[in-house]
Amino acid sequence: MKSLSLLLSVALGLVNVVSAGPAAIECWFVEDAGRGSLAMKPAALLLRPGPGGPPPRPDLDPKLYLSVDDPAGTLRSAFRRYPRDAAAPHCELSSFIPLPASANWARSLTPEQRCPRALDGAWLMVSISSSVFSLSSLLRQQPEPQQEPVLITMATVVLTVLTHTPGPRIQMGQDAVLDLSFSYMPPTPEAASSLAPGPPPFGLEWRRQHLGKGHLLLAATPGLGGKIPATQEGAVAFAAWDDDEPWGPWTGNGTIWLPAVQPFQEGTYLAIVHLPYLQGQVDLELSVYKSPKVSLTPAPLVWAAPGKTPPELLCHVNHFYPSEGLEVEWELRGGPEGGSRKAEGQKWLSSLRHHSDGSVSLLGYLQPPPVTTEQHGARYACRVYHSSLPASGRSVEVTLEVVGFSGPSLEDGIGLFLSAFLFLGLVKVLGWVVAYLTTCKDLKEKKTQ
Ligand SMILES: *[C@@H]1O[C@H](CO)[C@@H](O)[C@H](O)[C@H]1NC(C)=O
Repeated sequence: MKSLSLLLSVALGLVNVVSAGPAAIECWFVEDAGRGSLAMKPAALLLRPGPGGPPPRPDLDPKLYLSVDDPAGTLRSAFRRYPRDAAAPHCELSSFIPLPASANWARSLTPEQRCPRALDGAWLMVSISSSVFSLSSLLRQQPEPQQEPVLITMATVVLTVLTHTPGPRIQMGQDAVLDLSFSYMPPTPEAASSLAPGPPPFGLEWRRQHLGKGHLLLAATPGLGGKIPATQEGAVAFAAWDDDEPWGPWTGNGTIWLPAVQPFQEGTYLAIVHLPYLQGQVDLELSVYKSPKVSLTPAPLVWAAPGKTPPELLCHVNHFYPSEGLEVEWELRGGPEGGSRKAEGQKWLSSLRHHSDGSVSLLGYLQPPPVTTEQHGARYACRVYHSSLPASGRSVEVTLEVVGFSGPSLEDGIGLFLSAFLFLGLVKVLGWVVAYLTTCKDLKEKKTQ
């Protein structure tokens, strides 16, 4: 049973390798099988052999069971803080052939006409992606598997390119920092000594792929000059080696900063580090969001005809991004039933209104059913769900005011009528009294005369 589940998880490429930094990473070796199809074979990278030496892996082709030596330590340290509860990383291996960079602006990296002998041999490129980092490494592979103690092939990491922001989500209008670091250790002492001491020249390239179109944002070859394409969209990169020790390994920084990110800048960002005849690249998926402003009209909802249908309520959901996945729900809170429940009535949404900044707005409508006087003081709420908001969404409410209930009540009306009646009566009585008294006085005067 245990071996079955192991087999199953190997088959899915999901072996749980993430406790206290994994000892091994399960991968797929991918190669072109001709006629446009790909062939995949299971492979594994052994990062730590463990106290008893490398565990035997009879399930793997020994050329694809790789004992990884990582002199710069970047690959291994990327896994050190890998969260236990995160999904296992996705790992892919493929063959790599050292070649000069194809772009014209990177030609100055390879002034010599042929690839140095120090780069001879078999190379592999490993690409690892996960929710916490994304990296690629170039590995130089020993030609034959080693026999002792188990069949395994030694491989040395030469170049690693790493980002800790594989899926940046940027609030619209905010700056984005896309983190990139790289490390390099010359594959053999000869390779290092054939160059001047210190880190080699390098080129940095950032591109964006969107809807099948590639777009060069930034290219740099620090210290080399040459004709470099102009930087786009205000991008700024920190393209530098961190140190200039004579003999490596060296680490460098290729972080890019994009000011005031807009929706059109969403897409896959490709960061490529060019060294003479070697290239490492990672991709990042940048997405933009903007949370909606929500308001309700009319507020309050005043209605003078109990038993009849009140006017429709409008929920204004303004300036949000992306346009997909927005939901509007209506609730009725309070009233004779108390509590909060789904509002009855007809509901519909307007079409999207597009703004020049790339954000969108829409209106949610509710035609509430006829209102009774008991519903006076109840609240209608519009609740909006969107990927830019917390899971509970955002809600606003209006109070329902039934006229004739909130103003002077029926009893008040009767009271007023009665008082007016009495007041008029009193005036009349007083009138009579005055008239009577006057008459009496006249009579008295007549008597005394
Ligand atoms: C790269 O440079 C940026 C800007 O100076 C800095 O914020 C970032 O921490 C650096 N990254 C590394 C890995 O040192």
